[in-house]
Amino acid sequence: MTASLYARIRPLLFGLDAEDAHRRAVYLAGVAGRTLSVAARAGLRAMPPTSSRLERRLLGLTFPNPIGLAAGFDKNAVASHLWPALGFGFAELGTITALAQPGNPTPRMFRLPEDHAVVNRLGFNNEGATAVAARLESILQARPRIPIGINIGGSRARVGDPEAELEDYRESTRRLGRLADYIAVNVSSPNTPGLRDLQEPARLGRLIETVRGQLKRLGLGVSAPRVLVKLSPDLAEEGIAEICASALAAGTDGFIATNTTLSRDGLKGASVNEAGGVSGVPLRERSNRIISRIRFVAGPSVPIIGVGGVSCLDDVLAKLGAGADLISLYTGMIYEGPLLARRLAHALDAELACRGCSSVAELVGAGRADAAAGQ
Ligand SMILES: Cc1cc2nc3c(=O)[nH]c(=O)nc-3n(C[C@H](O)[C@H](O)[C@H](O)COP(=O)(O)O)c2cc1C
Repeated sequence: MTASLYARIRPLLFGLDAEDAHRRAVYLAGVAGRTLSVAARAGLRAMPPTSSRLERRLLGLTFPNPIGLAAGFDKNAVASHLWPALGFGFAELGTITALAQPGNPTPRMFRLPEDHAVVNRLGFNNEGATAVAARLESILQARPRIPIGINIGGSRARVGDPEAELEDYRESTRRLGRLADYIAVNVSSPNTPGLRDLQEPARLGRLIETVRGQLKRLGLGVSAPRVLVKLSPDLAEEGIAEICASALAAGTDGFIATNTTLSRDGLKGASVNEAGGVSGVPLRERSNRIISRIRFVAGPSVPIIGVGGVSCLDDVLAKLGAGADLISLYTGMIYEGPLLARRLAHALDAELACRGCSSVAELVGAGRADAAAGQ
C-alpha cells in the first residue's frame, strides 16, 4: 500500500476506536501471517529489502536490514511471517507474561493526531507464555528470514514480590527461550505498577542473572538467544551508567531504548490527560538522548536497538547518529501505514549509496557524555 493510498484510508481507520482499529489490523495480520507460514513451509519465505549496505551482523544474528517492528503490535505472536513481507528486518513479539492476563479496563489506547502520538495503558494484555509458545512452535517450524525477538515482562500479580517476579521471568524464559533469536527483558512499561522499579541496578542484575541461568538450563549451546534489556525514557541521566554496568555485569548483551514516556511535555491532543505511556513523535528526542547516553557509557561494541518516534528517514539517521545499531518502530506505522518499514529501508539504502557508505555501521554515532541531561 502506497503512502498516498494509506493517507486516504487513514480517516476511516481513525474513525474507529484506536484499540478496535488495532484489533482489526492484528486479525488481518494473523490471517496473512498464517498463510505466509504455510508458504514458508513449502520453501517460499518472504524477504524484506536488503543489500550489502543494509545487512547487519550483530548479536550472533544476521539482520537483512536494520528496521524492525517494536514490541506491542504483535503481542500474541500471531504474524511472524508477515513482518518480513512488510519490509521489517527483524520483529520483536510480545510483551508476553508468564500468566495470561486481560490487561487494564478499556478504553486504554488513544491517538493524539495533532502530536503524531499515541497514549496507551494496555497493561500487558496477552495470552500468556504457555499459549504463545505453543503457537510459535507451530508457526516457526519454518523460521522467517529475519531475527525474531521475544519480549518478556512481569505478570501483574507477581511484580513487586521479589521471589515471585524472578520466578515469573524464569518461567517465561523456560517456555519461550528456545523459540527466540533474542530475548528482550522488559522492565520499562509504565502500565504495570512496580515494573519500572526493576531498573534499579541491583534488582536488574538479579533479574538478568535469573534469565541467563534459565537459558543455560535449556542447554541450547551456541543457538541460545542473546539477552537485551529494554529501558525507560524517563530514567534520570545520572543513573544510566550504573544501570548499564549492572546489567552488563549480569550478562546482558545489549539494550533497547526506549519504551513509552510518562512525560506530557508539549502535547496538544485532546487525550493528553489520559493515563499511560506516550509513544510517537513527542518521544523522539527523549529517546535519542537516552540512546546517546547508553552508547557513551556502554562503549562502541554493545548493541543498541533505538526506538521512539521514528516515522521518516531523518528520524532513522538521527537514531543511528545517537548511537543505535538497529531501529524499531510502532506508532509511525499507525500514522504512515503498514509499509513504512519497507520505505525506510529503501530510503536508507539510497542514502548510504549517496554518501558513499558501504555499511549502516558507518553512520552509528559514539554517544555523548552530556546526553539525557535534559537539555
Ligand atoms: C499500543 C502500544 C502498545 C505497546 N506495547 C508494548 C509492549 O507490550 N511491550 C513493550 O516493550 N513495548 C510496548 N510498546 C512500546 C513500543 O514498543 C515502543 O517502545 C514505543 O512505542 C516507542 O516507539 P514508537 O514511538 O515507534 O511507537 C507499546 C507501544 C504502543 C503504542
